Amino acid sequence: MKCEHKVILITGASSGIGAATALQLAKSDNILIITARREEKLMALADQIRTLGSTCDYYVGDATNPEHGPKVVAEIVKKHGRIDLALLNVGIGPPSNCLTASSDTITYCMRANFDSFIHFYVPLMAQMKSQTTSCMIAHMNSQATWFGIPMQGDYTAAKAAVRIFMETARMELKHFGIRHIKLQTIHPGFVDTEAVRNDGIPAPNEISEEKAADYVLRGFEKEMKTNVFPPSTALLSRLGRIMPDWVRERVLLAETPKSY
Ligand SMILES: NC(=O)c1ccc[n+]([C@@H]2O[C@H](COP(=O)([O-])OP(=O)(O)OC[C@H]3O[C@@H](n4cnc5c(N)ncnc54)[C@H](OP(=O)(O)O)[C@@H]3O)[C@@H](O)[C@H]2O)c1
Repeated sequence: MKCEHKVILITGASSGIGAATALQLAKSDNILIITARREEKLMALADQIRTLGSTCDYYVGDATNPEHGPKVVAEIVKKHGRIDLALLNVGIGPPSNCLTASSDTITYCMRANFDSFIHFYVPLMAQMKSQTTSCMIAHMNSQATWFGIPMQGDYTAAKAAVRIFMETARMELKHFGIRHIKLQTIHPGFVDTEAVRNDGIPAPNEISEEKAADYVLRGFEKEMKTNVFPPSTALLSRLGRIMPDWVRERVLLAETPKSY
């Protein structure tokens, strides 16, 4: 998909990879709709986007609230008539220990990563089925999705849940002959964003937000089914998937803090 003159929704765009991707897309005369909870950040980003030549609206809201996603999608359609591309990027992944985390912490992590996706996905799918031109829903997953990672149990579980849901939806689109809707899953390795900067989790092969946004745009343009980057981390996670469990466990535990 050529990302020019498109109506594009990005959730969780007030900082990090979402904001960097919005700024890249702003250079190509798009209509950008950005969402998150921090209004001042969205307002400042919207100004930057307009300076770069694109149109921008922002919606403030909590993506874990089931009313927020449907309302945003309805308002975009009312104003612009269609949605060409949606990047569902909301997510949190603070370090969390399966032996001590409270059920509130764990279920909030599921809501912020899984429910926040579903609350947008459902109205988007309904809308896109009514459109006839090529359109795409992309989810910002992670490479912490293929197997459990110590200190990231709730996060890996939530990302794996969305990955499997997307895999299934992709098969169903094919089976029911719906060709104009693409579903893409994006799997970044470590990206240096404010959310993870001081989280104490080792971050080999970390890349900048801007570099991550370059990879994201390339994935949109090539309409990749899965966009795994950077290549160095993609290779490590692929090896992790095929190595015997006991070897993977050793590698992962060698990187895990000794106390909690
Ligand atoms: N950084 C990495 O190394 C890395 C690696 C792999 C995948 N990812 C994924 O990339 C995505 C972006 O992460 P990031 O590192 O760029 O962190 P970030 O800067 O914290 O971005 C997260 C975005 O989601 C928004 N958000 C969080 N909870 C929300 C909620 N309940 N309702 C609405 N918006 C919410 C935040 O905005 P507000 O706080 O203003 O609401 C922010 O705009 C996440 O899905 C993350 O899992 C990151």
